[in-house]
Amino acid sequence: MRMEPSNPVNRSLLTQLLGILRAIHWSHWTSHWQARGNPSYSDHLLFERLYKNLEEEIDTLAEKIVSYYGAEAVAACLLYTSPSPRD
Ligand SMILES: [Fe+2]
Repeated sequence: MRMEPSNPVNRSLLTQLLGILRAIHWSHWTSHWQARGNPSYSDHLLFERLYKNLEEEIDTLAEKIVSYYGAEAVAACLLYTSPSPRD
């Protein structure tokens, strides 16, 4: 299946995917800091490997979105990863 950049649904799906990947990245990074118990060090390393492996995927996806839709398109993904101003 070919992704058509001109389709606004595809833009929305790609930016939602970027936001979800960034949220997962943040969650794994937080779990990396919070690893406790036995075997906490192996969990610490597992979560580190998980969040670091996502970074290249996130970067590649964000750069594709910018190339298709412009830099403002990736600003929308902040809505999915930033805490609400009310929090
Ligand atoms: Fe660390």
